[in-house]
Amino acid sequence: MLAGVKFRNPVIAASGTFGFGLEYRQIAQKLGGIVTKAITLEPRAGNPMPRIAEVCGGIVNSVGLENPGIQRFKTEILPRLRNLKSRLIVNIAGSKTDEFVQIAEMLEEDQITALELNLSCPNVREGGVLLGQNPKLVKNLTSAVRKRTRKLLIVKLTANFVDPAVTARAAEDSGADAVTVINTLFGLVLDENGQPLLGGRTGGLSGPAIKPFALFCVDRVAAAVKIPVIGCGGIMNGQDAYEFLCAGAKMVQVGTANLITPDRSWKIVRELAVICRLKKSVQFKKVRKARCKK
Ligand SMILES: Cc1cc2nc3c(=O)[nH]c(=O)nc-3n(C[C@H](O)[C@H](O)[C@H](O)COP(=O)(O)O)c2cc1C
Repeated sequence: MLAGVKFRNPVIAASGTFGFGLEYRQIAQKLGGIVTKAITLEPRAGNPMPRIAEVCGGIVNSVGLENPGIQRFKTEILPRLRNLKSRLIVNIAGSKTDEFVQIAEMLEEDQITALELNLSCPNVREGGVLLGQNPKLVKNLTSAVRKRTRKLLIVKLTANFVDPAVTARAAEDSGADAVTVINTLFGLVLDENGQPLLGGRTGGLSGPAIKPFALFCVDRVAAAVKIPVIGCGGIMNGQDAYEFLCAGAKMVQVGTANLITPDRSWKIVRELAVICRLKKSVQFKKVRKARCKK
């Protein structure tokens, strides 16, 4: 359960790492939910190639929010997601409050369970992380969208040069139902000549390298807010997912791991179920409660 909405299991495929769930529909059906690639008001071509660089313990990406725009998403993609058995969460991005509000208003379809406000993309020039770094903007944006949607409202926070506990409180105060913690961390990859390797120059680091920091953030945010926290960052297996639940997350999102093997999230669901049975889930509920009291 997340803010009164039932999910079949606590594992969700993270935005940008599972497309729109169309390519791997069989896997998508078995997960708690999938988050779509970010959708903007107008189509975006994204950043120049190359867009992904492998680094020690993860990848740095500068995809730059390439997407077909809300209109095409509604007419061409959403109808194909009609009978999805898992929860559909649409990740939305923009550079101004008005853009987020317009998109939210256009997504009233029944098949969508939640909107995830992306206030944390590190590889776009306008909007993205700049919105999520400022608690006042987080507040204004969240409350503006809250007034226009009845969907579950999730705010995806950044931990780049900002305390996510502060922005999580801002989101909670303005009507968010849950927060996702964290998006990618700023990264720069240089080639053998010392020149930026990625077409977008800088990008966002993800994968196991960010897991300890992501866990730290989840622990910190869970102690600061009453709304549920969705943990994300470097989850590669069931044990990682279990640790996020112990740190105070109610659900988890899996990103980079899906790029290695597309059925990794489903494997994590099964591994997590075994671990929870072995450790007796009651025990980790106690841990979670104790942490929330901090
Ligand atoms: C290639 C790629 C594209 C991404 N695109 C988005 C996006 O469109 N919107 C978003 O909110 N997060 C996006 N993310 C961030 C992931 O959803 C996730 O928050 C982040 O990668 C950390 O989790 P991980 O370490 O499990 O990958 C993207 C990540 C990657 C690797």
